Amino acid sequence: MANPEQSIPVVAAENLRKCYGSFVAVNDISFNVGRGELFGILGPNGAGKTSTIRMIYGFSPLSGGSLTVFGKNVTTDWRSIRARLGVCHQDNNLDTEMSVRQNLEVFGTFFGIPAPVARKRATDLLEFFGLAHREKARVGELSGGLMRRLVLARALINEPELLILDEPTTGLDPQSRQQLWEQLARLKKRGVTILLTTHYMEEAAQLCDRLIIIDRGRILVEGRPRDLVGEYVGNQVIESSPVCEGLREFVKARKLDHEDLGHRLLIYCKNDEALYREITGQYCQDNCILRMGTLEDVFLKLTGRELRE
Ligand SMILES: Nc1ncnc2c1ncn2[C@@H]1O[C@H](COP(=O)(O)OP(=O)(O)OP(=O)(O)O)[C@@H](O)[C@H]1O
Ligand SMILES: [Mg+2]
Repeated sequence: MANPEQSIPVVAAENLRKCYGSFVAVNDISFNVGRGELFGILGPNGAGKTSTIRMIYGFSPLSGGSLTVFGKNVTTDWRSIRARLGVCHQDNNLDTEMSVRQNLEVFGTFFGIPAPVARKRATDLLEFFGLAHREKARVGELSGGLMRRLVLARALINEPELLILDEPTTGLDPQSRQQLWEQLARLKKRGVTILLTTHYMEEAAQLCDRLIIIDRGRILVEGRPRDLVGEYVGNQVIESSPVCEGLREFVKARKLDHEDLGHRLLIYCKNDEALYREITGQYCQDNCILRMGTLEDVFLKLTGRELRE
């Protein structure tokens, strides 16, 4: 018999709201995460990302709207949902006095996993995350990148169906970030549904099947990264920084689709290399590039502000 849960969204949020006193941090947002999807919540600092996912993993009561995980109500069915979730908080919150392996095995006991099973899973996870050679090290001795991997490994000790990651790569160097992306892609291939928050547009673009961009508690757009870039910005952007003399007038006179940030001028164009040659020929040779459109451009287009303020 087909499993009825297969057709239900793993997460279904409808008019989800979170208030802190009179301040509305999450303002009636609605989205679904499908089974096996890698879904992203992209937004700048303070957008409401953590507030949103804290409600999903049951740490924070809803101020309004409805929220189901695996088709169950988060408020009333919390216990059965929790057993099927893996959560990586924004802070590492590991036990720094314990060893790498102990952190995994002890965490397993919180889920009632029998010790021999937890031991075997810890061995597999240490292998998967390239931590086996450091299993006896105290966590306090690990680099930031290894700690982040351990947090991720720990979130998987109960073999969760949904993995929730709050800014998994913030603060990591580019190499560690790349490694973590590869590990997340491998987990997705194994069928784990992943919900992550990030303020790195490259991360969202590389990893996410689908995402929402949020700002000040509201959803600006939802879609596949490439579709959003195509729809809102076009595939190419001419960027002048610092802005070349005369270019502003040119852009206005030609009524080009653009964004003027003072220190950066962005001109949205669709495969118009002739325009780029004209601009670099007439106005600026050194400070002007032709590049692909990005999710950052989408954010800018919609808010007039930069994602990383
Ligand atoms: N416990 C709280 N009490 C009052 N205000 C809060 C509380 N938690 C968050 N906020 C406020 O709610 C807004 C959203 O915060 P949240 O932590 O959800 O943002 P975020 O998108 O996760 O940001 P960051 O990228 O900095 O982690 C912010 O303005 C924040 O100051
Ligand atoms: Mg946050």
